[in-house]
Amino acid sequence: MIAVRGNTFFLSTDNTSYIFGVTDEGLLEHYHYGKRVDVSDEAVTDSVRAMREKVSHGKGTTINYAKDSLTVTEDMLLEVSSVGKGDLREPFILVRYPDGSSTSDFIFKEAVVLDTPEMLKGMPSAISAGENVKQLKVVLTERVRPVTLVLYYTVFEKCNVITRRAVLVNSEKENIVIKRIMSAQLDIDEAGLKAITFGGNWGREMKRTDTIVENHTFVNATASGVSSNRSNPFVMLTKADATEEAGDCYGFNLIYSGNHYEAVDVSGFYKTRFITGINPQNFEWVLEPGEEFETPEAVMTYSAAGFRELSLNMQHFVKKHIVRGKYADKPRPILLNSWEAAYFNISESRILSLAKKAKEAGVELLVMDDGWFKGRNDDTTSLGDWTEDKKKLPGGIEGLARKVNDIGLDFGIWVEPEMISEKSDLYEVHPEYAMTVPGRDNSPGRNQMILDLTQPEVREYVKNSMRRVIGAKGVSYVKWDMNRMFSDVYSKALPPERQGECAHRYVLGLYEILKALTEEFPDVLFENCASGGNRFDLGMTAYMPQTWGSDDSDAYERTFIQTGYSYGYPMSTVTAHVSACPNHQTLRNTPLDTRFNVAAFGVLGYEINLGECNAEDFKAIKAQIETYKEWRDVFFGGDFYRVDDTQWMVVSPDRKRAVTMIWNGLCNPNEFYRKIKTVGLAEDKTYHVYNVKLRHNIKQFGSLVNQVAPVHVKQDSLMHNTIAKFVKMDGEVEDYTVSGELLNNVGIKLTQAFGGTGYNQETRLFQDFSSRMYFIESID
Ligand code: GLA
Repeated sequence: MIAVRGNTFFLSTDNTSYIFGVTDEGLLEHYHYGKRVDVSDEAVTDSVRAMREKVSHGKGTTINYAKDSLTVTEDMLLEVSSVGKGDLREPFILVRYPDGSSTSDFIFKEAVVLDTPEMLKGMPSAISAGENVKQLKVVLTERVRPVTLVLYYTVFEKCNVITRRAVLVNSEKENIVIKRIMSAQLDIDEAGLKAITFGGNWGREMKRTDTIVENHTFVNATASGVSSNRSNPFVMLTKADATEEAGDCYGFNLIYSGNHYEAVDVSGFYKTRFITGINPQNFEWVLEPGEEFETPEAVMTYSAAGFRELSLNMQHFVKKHIVRGKYADKPRPILLNSWEAAYFNISESRILSLAKKAKEAGVELLVMDDGWFKGRNDDTTSLGDWTEDKKKLPGGIEGLARKVNDIGLDFGIWVEPEMISEKSDLYEVHPEYAMTVPGRDNSPGRNQMILDLTQPEVREYVKNSMRRVIGAKGVSYVKWDMNRMFSDVYSKALPPERQGECAHRYVLGLYEILKALTEEFPDVLFENCASGGNRFDLGMTAYMPQTWGSDDSDAYERTFIQTGYSYGYPMSTVTAHVSACPNHQTLRNTPLDTRFNVAAFGVLGYEINLGECNAEDFKAIKAQIETYKEWRDVFFGGDFYRVDDTQWMVVSPDRKRAVTMIWNGLCNPNEFYRKIKTVGLAEDKTYHVYNVKLRHNIKQFGSLVNQVAPVHVKQDSLMHNTIAKFVKMDGEVEDYTVSGELLNNVGIKLTQAFGGTGYNQETRLFQDFSSRMYFIESID
């Protein structure tokens, strides 16, 4: 809901309010973003007076806004800030005018509530075409220059989300230069908040870092050209003592896939400013007379009840307003990806034998990863040449797809369309397509260069080469990869004074391509990937409903990575695969059921040579897939909860079905006790809680087998292996019928864990990296 009372604007969602107004000078003063407060018509005048900043005298060494004004912009909560008028904090906007000056002063002109929202033109948005959602448009004009700044606030009531973006319009007779323009600013009248950010590197995305910001500026940003695994644009700002269940929390994200910048700036007056937008580093945009510049859309949410509610807001928002197309609400196919099974050794026969085993296991989609196109035998060649290698695929993509379809599986393919290898036909013909700085050696990343998507011809090339691949008969899934950071950022198509536009123009070029291709191929399921999660963001998610969360497929590592994503993204956007052990990234061994349990909480896939799995593992995988199919709608459509550091839970929207999982890092002897508590179950319902019965391989007990064997068994001997083949130890059974109230508030004490003092069927074998899944069904 949006209410305008005089010059005060009240934006409300189900649980939150965002309020701001206009000062006597025409500045936009921010009053409140937080818990919902409803102000009656009668109480407006006094409420506004109560919320306003009071000034009666100048303040120390601060600058007064104007001669006849005591307002100190440095000490005021503002909706937008600029430089040159006394506000010393991080600015929202910085423009260089034709006279060389950079002082800006944007003053309120008018505001209007739009029933039909105004849409972004060149970037994805939370608003889908034709969507009926309320939007407030606030127009500000520069006090002395003919330049207009338009602010858009869109309210998503049910998800408790408000989005913001800005448009700058140049009505000067000459060019102006935008040095910085943010998407959102939130000023809060306290300091010492905690910035919670998520970053890392390749293979270890989304590590949570907590930083208390008591003074100065804390920045979460990237200049890598992509939203990056170094610092994801999703950021939380919370009370220092906020927890999963309690405390004020703000969550922010940006619907953008390039260089982003989030700053938490604490002023000398103990107030905090948060801004998010395009990273101003190496950014400069020349705006010609009559032109406008639009920022990406920023997403904001607030929870008075800790991270859990904040994450639910974000999950619901992303599911409902970002993910779109045919697959938005459709549980995804279980796939087998060839990468860790075959790497570059692609051939028709290898893919078909993987497909046959995959079909037998219950998999639904076979994905041929890297290595299928002309001359691609390692990562040094061929990017840009999107024709099949006839030696590897004599029947081409379509021939192979048909055979895979005949086996009874859908067929998917890997591409990396934004790249060019120096050793490629494309580079021989069009070296100018590569992003390089003339006269300088290019710094390589994975032996490849980036295509300059700022050039229209390059965009056409990418679209056309992809139309051939994606449009090949039988292709129903595409993994769109992007495997390097930017270096040598430069476009040969832009004049020197516009080189600061290159990185942003690249992103706009990419969006143009993605929009065209996803619209042309609405039945194709697109998976986003950038060496795993190097471009996991809401911009990509608006085109591609799922993203490969990390190249690290180690189940234990994945518990951290997927937990990281869960703060800001629904698990239905994160793909996760069961892979071989020792794991290819860590060489760690984890139990097969843990690999499944962890992957099932994301969008499940397999990335393993099923043909080389032993019979026992293959049987187990078949059973996993059966279980997953029974519970897929819960994993996919349910609300995800972090119950504690080693327990996840997902609950169906109607709260009738749920799954929870616990896991272990390194186990300690003599630690027997474990309890599961639940979150999100209906307290007035009765639930049946049970686990899948495990059958343990006796080899897990090593030479302890001799404690029960009638004859001595030498470890790993033929006899040991033979016994292991035929004798299995039954695992513990957990089976309860109890109320949701008991589950949520008291919990279930699980059977005793193995601790070196004996084993029977009431013992939970819970060694290193073990896990258990418990299924919960309402019986009402
Ligand atoms: C990236 C992806 C992997 C795989 C390889 C292929 O690393 O993240 O999943 O597709 O490229 O080269």
